[in-house]
Amino acid sequence: MEAQDTFKERLENVADKVTVALDALIPPVAGPESQLLSAMRYAALGNGKRLRPFFVLECGRLFDINERSLLRVASAVECIHAYSLIHDDLPAMDDDDLRRGRPTVHKAYDEAIAVLAGDALQSLAFEIISDEETHAGPKVRNQLIHKLAIASGARGMAGGQAIDVSVKDNELEMPLIARMQRMKTGALFQFSAEAGATMAQASTEAFAALSGFAHDLGLAYQIADDLLDVEGEQSNTGKAVGKDAANGKASFVLTLGPEQAKKRARLLAEQAKSHLEFFGQSATILRQSIDFVIERTG
Ligand code: IPE
Ligand code: IPE
Ligand code: MG
Ligand code: MG
Ligand code: MG
Repeated sequence: MEAQDTFKERLENVADKVTVALDALIPPVAGPESQLLSAMRYAALGNGKRLRPFFVLECGRLFDINERSLLRVASAVECIHAYSLIHDDLPAMDDDDLRRGRPTVHKAYDEAIAVLAGDALQSLAFEIISDEETHAGPKVRNQLIHKLAIASGARGMAGGQAIDVSVKDNELEMPLIARMQRMKTGALFQFSAEAGATMAQASTEAFAALSGFAHDLGLAYQIADDLLDVEGEQSNTGKAVGKDAANGKASFVLTLGPEQAKKRARLLAEQAKSHLEFFGQSATILRQSIDFVIERTG
């Protein structure tokens, strides 16, 4: 990878490499559990944007962490993300039939296998990170495991999803919407942005900059997702659109309206960029990625 690469080239490169890594980390098996492994592969190897892996790699480069280690952490985060999407799509949650342009896991397989594939992808994420191949230092591995557990559990993604499903009639106070988004989406972004800094045992200042960046980015990311539900096309997003309002969901888009929500996303994007000033020129590609996040159509 060269310094003059654009954001798009870097994202494509990461997406290819993380897909190869996941393919190797989730080998198909024969025998009675073959359906489980097949469903895990279906979910993890699908056509995702791979943005969380991109942030693991791109933020990790700021600290000269080797790519092999970063790719393992990136694969682990993508396993957690894939698991969260499988469960998010289940009839008991958002009840969606389409994901990444093809049938959701419970449609392609069945609900029991979908629940189990999510469970097993979550376990696999921790199996990957706890392996010495990811990092030689047990203290660092333990910190990564601890942070990923918090980001994906009741104080992070799962907790945010619990708030999401508890909302009735699109009604939630604005500060609670922010909290929900920070938990359900922001926490995994924060883990992704900080993983390299954790591996490098970086300074408090570097962590503060990355944490500020990821906080604003995560909120902007979910606003963009919620906008796509209102203004997007299924052919671009690869998932159903126009469902959140009818399903009683709460979001900045539904509370503020699309125009105010876009304004908020742009403001968050500028804030996210300002946090990156700490890293100077080495964060150029990361700055470009922020624009992609709020302008994306899929
Ligand atoms: C969708 O995530 C769910 C959210 C947290 C907004 P992505 O938009 O990153 O989905 P993929 O991985 O590209 O399919
Ligand atoms: C899901 O948010 C966030 C997760 C933690 C999976 P959404 O329910 O809005 O995600 P999509 O629109 O189904 O991808
Ligand atoms: Mg949902
Ligand atoms: Mg959903
Ligand atoms: Mg959505």
